[in-house]
Amino acid sequence: MAEVEAILKREMSSKFPKVSDIVSYGYLLGGKRLRPALVLLCGQAFSNVTPSHHKLGAVLEMVHTATLIHDDVLDGAETRRHLETIHHRWGTESSVLVGDFLFTHAFYLASTLPTTLAAQKIGQATNIVCEGELRQITTKGRFDLSEEEYLSIIEAKTAVLCQCACELGAIYAEAPPEAAKQAAEYGRCLGVAFQIVDDLLDIEGDTDSTGKTLGTDLAQRKPTLPIIHALKVASPETREEMLAALQAESPDPAQVMAWLEEFDSAAYARQTAIRHVETALANIAQWPATDATAALRQLAEFVLKRCY
Ligand code: IPE
Ligand code: IPE
Ligand code: MG
Ligand code: MG
Repeated sequence: MAEVEAILKREMSSKFPKVSDIVSYGYLLGGKRLRPALVLLCGQAFSNVTPSHHKLGAVLEMVHTATLIHDDVLDGAETRRHLETIHHRWGTESSVLVGDFLFTHAFYLASTLPTTLAAQKIGQATNIVCEGELRQITTKGRFDLSEEEYLSIIEAKTAVLCQCACELGAIYAEAPPEAAKQAAEYGRCLGVAFQIVDDLLDIEGDTDSTGKTLGTDLAQRKPTLPIIHALKVASPETREEMLAALQAESPDPAQVMAWLEEFDSAAYARQTAIRHVETALANIAQWPATDATAALRQLAEFVLKRCY
């Protein structure tokens, strides 16, 4: 991970000091570094981690950071990774361009790997992430969104990049093809669980512990799993009342939480996340008993603990 950090520090910079300030701010915003950790651990589970793994970890983190910088514009968020967002500090123009800088630099770096496979897979995955964010903005105010549609969108916007991290980690460690498929499936299911929990935190969490602006899904009228569940099980009268509240200018979070409590909807979302984590774990159940495999299991548990 230290090697990944060194690459990020080196690559997220510019010879123009004012540009460097904004671009390196994206690096200073240290996140959990989940995607690089997935690349390295899925590699380490099969062989030694190679320089390609370090580069891949940095590339995926840069792509992820670019999506967050753009996402903060979409969500009008002021805080990210315990700091002011680039959007809040430098505005929309800089956010759009820093995101572009990171996307393009990530693809340039991916193209310097010994084979083009990573560039192909990361290109496809990033394209699906963008498609996912585009699909999500069309769901604003669409409280008839089904659970299947919701799951399909979060798979695109979040899980596919985790899937890509795990699959490439295994492939660049020359894992058997079957294991690379299992790595991909582990990453996909972990990513879906991760976003379900993140959406729960958006309603129930606090900025101090998550380090980011929350409540943006309700404010932007984006239906997430607890809301979809509550609307499904509520009586027709309560459903009408809920719909009116959710479509309002600024829905009252306390009122929404009371409904979620009444219908056990947060518990339902948590249960759905647990099911995805179980599938993730089942995929790596037969992997060699190494420290890396143990860490991948702990990571899957960590995704669930984030919501408590
Ligand atoms: C945030 O991702 C966006 C989602 C996919 C929910 P992370 O929670 O991994 O963000 P950082 O990188 O740790 O800040
Ligand atoms: C965005 O989802 C995740 C991306 C893939 C960009 P969110 O909007 O839920 O992410 P946060 O909560 O702002 O981190
Ligand atoms: Mg957001
Ligand atoms: Mg969120």
